Parts: sequence; C-alpha cells; structure tokens
Amino acid sequence: MLKRWRRSSDRKGQAARAWPGGKTVTLALTAFVLAGAAACDDDGTTGVSGDPPEFIAADGINGGTMYDKFWAPETGWDRNDPNLTTFNDHSNFFRCKQCHAWDRKGNAASYIGRAPSTTRPNVSSVNLVAYAENHTPQEVFDALWSSSGRRSVTADLSTYDPQTNNTVGDQMPDLTEIMTEAQVWDLVKFLKEEANDTDLLYDYSTTGTYPTGSITYSNIGAGGDPDNGDALFSANCRPCHGADGTAILVDGSYSIGSFLRAKPYEVQHKVKFGQPGSNPSMGTILTDINDILDLYAALTNTTKYPDP
Ligand code: HEC
Ligand code: HEC
Repeated sequence: MLKRWRRSSDRKGQAARAWPGGKTVTLALTAFVLAGAAACDDDGTTGVSGDPPEFIAADGINGGTMYDKFWAPETGWDRNDPNLTTFNDHSNFFRCKQCHAWDRKGNAASYIGRAPSTTRPNVSSVNLVAYAENHTPQEVFDALWSSSGRRSVTADLSTYDPQTNNTVGDQMPDLTEIMTEAQVWDLVKFLKEEANDTDLLYDYSTTGTYPTGSITYSNIGAGGDPDNGDALFSANCRPCHGADGTAILVDGSYSIGSFLRAKPYEVQHKVKFGQPGSNPSMGTILTDINDILDLYAALTNTTKYPDP
C-alpha cells in the first residue's frame, strides 16, 4: 500500500526536530529543503526557514497534551486560574478534542456518530488536518488568536441544549481570554508538526452523516513491523499494562489490545501526548510515526494482546 511506505523523509524531519535548540532545527530543516530532498514538510507546507521564532521555540508535545485538556497539571497550567472551575464543570465545551476529534477530522470521521448532549457540544465540521496543511504557522496562530465568532469564557453553558440552545455552546472558545500567546503557539506547533497523521496508521470508511453516521476501521497497523512493536510495548508499556496489555482495565472495559482495535483514532494521541492524570506522555520516545505504526501492528494480534 503506497501510503504506508516507511517514509525516510519523516524520519529525517522528526529527528531534526528532536534536536534541542531552535537554531539547529532551523538550519537542519533549511539545509534539508535546499538540498531538494523535500520541497515540503510532512504537513505539506513550505517556507520552513521563514517560520516565526515563537513557532520555532514552541513545544508541540505540550501542545498535544493541551489539545486533550489544556488546563491539566501536565501542561503546566496555572493551578490558581480562576477559570479552572468553569473548565472542569463544562469540560467538553473547552477540550479541543471534543469539537475536533482525536484524528482532527471533525465530524467527518471518528466522531461522525458522537452526537451532542446537554453536557457536550456538536463536533465541528472543520477538518483541522487539512486546515493545518493549508495554512502557515502564522496563519494558524492568527486564526486561534482571534475573538471574532468565539465564545467568551463567561458564557452560560449550563443551559446548553443541542436542539434549542446550541449557538454559543457550539462556538470555539475565545482563546485570547484564557491562554498566553506562547500556549497558543504550542497548539500551533502540535497541529503543524507533532500531530500524528492517522492516515498512515489505518484505513476507515464511513456511512451516513453526523451525528448519526458510523465508521469502521481496517488495515490497522498495516505495513508496520510487529516485532519492533512488541519490543516497544515491552520496554514502554509493560511496566504498567502488563506483558499482554490486560493488567489495567482501561476506561473500565478495555485491555490495551481491545482498546486499540476499537479506537485506533485515539491510541495514537494517548501514547505520544499522554492522558492527563493517568497515561504518561511518550513524546520524547515515540517521536517517530513509524514506531507508532509498529505498535499498532503488534497490538492487532489478539493472541499476544487479548481482550480483557
Ligand atoms: C466547542 C467546540 C470547540 C472547541 C472546544 C474548540 N473548537 Fe476549534 N473550532 C470550532 C468551530 C465551530 C470552528 C469553526 C468556526 C470558527 O472558526 O470559529 C473551529 C475552528 C478551529 C480552527 C480553524 C480556524 C478557523 O478560524 O476556522 C482551528 C485551528 C481550531 N478550531 C483549533 C482549536 C483548538 C486548538 C482548540 C482547543 C484549544 C479548539 N479549536 C477548541 C469549535 C471548537
Ligand atoms: C506509568 C504507567 C503507565 C505506562 C508506562 C503506560 N501506561 Fe497506558 N495507562 C496507564 C493508566 C494508569 C491508564 C488509565 C487507565 C484507566 O483508568 O482508564 C492508562 C491508559 C492507557 C490507554 C487508554 C487511554 C484512555 O483513553 O482511557 C491507552 C490506549 C494506553 N494507556 C496505552 C499505553 C501504551 C501503548 C503504553 C506504552 C507506549 C502505555 N500506555 C504506557 C498507565 C501507564
């Protein structure tokens, strides 16, 4: 399958980004582009050498954790922030992932059947994968650092009703009221560079439309190396999840194997960026999408990683 080739340009790009020091990163990537090895980054944009210094300095792994729950202790969020109660009481109205999905494809893929309720808003129709590909870091930042059409943190969310009172609740939060510019740059870096391309990890097909559509997954981990996946699992996951991934009952009902097989769109995020409060971020270990692909290839094996 063409799209599953083990892309050497990814490895090189990821390795360069992993080096500490913004200056080295710029030089490495500039040389890479000048050498003609790639006219574009894996996100399809050009002009890496002209990126704003704030973008180069940003932490896209932290941005990934923020995408899940930006006010979690793991992101370094101020524990004295007066908005913490609002975020916690109406968590689904603030978590990026609720409105944009783990695969960042909005309501067109994994969240096609995730209907709203009085405690969670509609999933957005924006495809953030395409959005990030087609906009420069500065453009993504400017879109995020905007109040126009955005919901104030003071909005009353207790009366949200998906049928009769959804206008304000479905709006994207006004990030200028609640974040620093540096935190928004971390989100930009996540969207532009660190987010995993789920199309490399599995295939899917959908039927119907949001919010009553459904999705099925196939070829999970296809093209990956299950032996390397087993080794990665043994080194990084086994201490907590056990040799066969059944030591912790995840979300009350899954082993790691069955979770992956049911929710391949979610595991990629949890392993790289962590799950605040429980699963550790492996952002410095699983930096390469091919390692995540290998992990996926291993975890599809129901004998080695059985259901609970
Ligand atoms: C309550 C739902 C909701 C939440 C939470 C939410 N968004 Fe959005 N987002 C939207 C909607 C709706 C749009 C499209 C309309 C718009 O631009 O405001 C959007 C648009 C965007 C866009 C495209 C830019 C644009 O101007 O259209 C980006 C990028 C984005 N969101 C990122 C994020 C990030 C990062 C977070 C978390 C900090 C987040 N969103 C949280 C609903 C949400
Ligand atoms: C330090 C211990 C620890 C390590 C190491 C660890 N995990 Fe976890 N993981 C947890 C805990 C605790 C949970 C939360 C279980 C729960 O209550 O649902 C969890 C949850 C998960 C979840 C489910 C997330 C969700 O949405 O509920 C996945 C998937 C997962 N881990 C995969 C992995 C993989 C793959 C690795 C190795 C790359 C790994 N974990 C390493 C402790 C760990």
